[in-house]
Amino acid sequence: MSNGLWGGRFESGPAEAMAALSASTHFDWRLARYDIAGSRAHARVLRRADLLTDAELTGMLAALDALEADVVSGAFTPTVADEDVHTALERGLIERAGPDLGGKLRAGRSRNDQVATLFRMWLRDAARQVAGGVLDVVDALTDQARRYPDAVMPGRTHLQHAQPVLLAHHLLAHAQSLLRDVERLRDWDRRAAVSPYGSGALAGSSLGLDPAAVAEELGFDGPVENSIDGTASRDFAAEIAFALAMLGVNLSRVAEEVVIWTTAEFGYATLDDAWATGSSIMPQKKNPDVAELTRGKSGRLIGNLTGLLATLKAQPLAYNRDLQEDKEPLFDSVEQLGLLLPAIAGMVRTLTFHTDRLAELAPAGFTLATDIAEWLVRQGVPFRVAHEAAGACVRVAEGRGVGLEDLTDDEFAAVDPALTPEVRDVLTVAGSIASRDAYGGTAPPRVAEQQARVERRIEEH
Ligand code: ARG
Repeated sequence: MSNGLWGGRFESGPAEAMAALSASTHFDWRLARYDIAGSRAHARVLRRADLLTDAELTGMLAALDALEADVVSGAFTPTVADEDVHTALERGLIERAGPDLGGKLRAGRSRNDQVATLFRMWLRDAARQVAGGVLDVVDALTDQARRYPDAVMPGRTHLQHAQPVLLAHHLLAHAQSLLRDVERLRDWDRRAAVSPYGSGALAGSSLGLDPAAVAEELGFDGPVENSIDGTASRDFAAEIAFALAMLGVNLSRVAEEVVIWTTAEFGYATLDDAWATGSSIMPQKKNPDVAELTRGKSGRLIGNLTGLLATLKAQPLAYNRDLQEDKEPLFDSVEQLGLLLPAIAGMVRTLTFHTDRLAELAPAGFTLATDIAEWLVRQGVPFRVAHEAAGACVRVAEGRGVGLEDLTDDEFAAVDPALTPEVRDVLTVAGSIASRDAYGGTAPPRVAEQQARVERRIEEH
């Protein structure tokens, strides 16, 4: 392999294994169109610095247009001799503009500032796409919340029955965390929106090139403050890798619930046939593969984050070739989410919830015990005493194998004389849910308001 970029001081080309190790076109070709956009902007600042004539700029832009068309059509592709996307595209440019003109574009830029810029551009577009996919999942959750506004279910802590809640309240809890993921991607973009182009290899450009003009043309808010930082830092990549891993973890929690909810034991919900798989041997099976793959891939997204952080740690400033390892983990995370998000949105949107089953289970496991204690507090009983009394009611009911609402007046009075028959007012699931009417609580009007706010946030994005 001969190398078009640095022949001068070398007597031989790289060894085959060296070239094989070095090559990155099999993954960084994704950056090709961003590289060409960067080249256009760079050509314009070269013109402004009088390093290209008007005619040369016109010729350069025409060659870049032709190159882009060939990249898009597939007529131009990297060869094994091209180390990376930048090398390949420079070869393509020279083939189209000739060596004299084509060879002028590299002045004042380095692959180090190029790649840091293009990777940011690619990630910024990817972040917007991922956010759109997440909003579809949020929309599927709110759709379901709208479909079952009155359905109740046993809310759980430690997976044990805790207190009854509205199904819509539970679904919106997932919507909230996913909306934070969307907002995290937006926040990230503000920090990522600075362009390293013009940093050169590390020290900046001596050719009078304007980094702000390039930044603006490429859609950034401005150029980086420090050319060393611009070429050396990858915290923008690690930060979005975290945002994507966190998203994966949040999706995985939705997924895990779907796995549990669709078991025979829970029977909360049934998967739509289009979003389930069967078994090659057991004819009865309907498996929640979408949910399981979501759970599995979230581990992969975490791996991509931790792998990247490990790559970055202990690298001295500025650019080191280790940094070439920054791209595959992010390409992978974005690609996996591109597969996952539409599938999980479809799965969630088409779940059928079994509201009778959910209602039957809502009071099971003495989920109304807190309501007895809080009713006593409203009668002036100290909570410590009320908690004891409600616990004693559970003990009596459990001993008799009945629900709390089945205790007799005498049994209540024997536990605590303050437990008059009126306590039965709160011993219904509907009463319990309606009573939790503080902001953010599970009472139907509060959940309806929350739903409206969530839907507004979906629209605002
Ligand atoms: N392909 C490299 C990367 O992705 C950029 C090339 C920089 N190479 C160099 N020898 N300075 O990081």
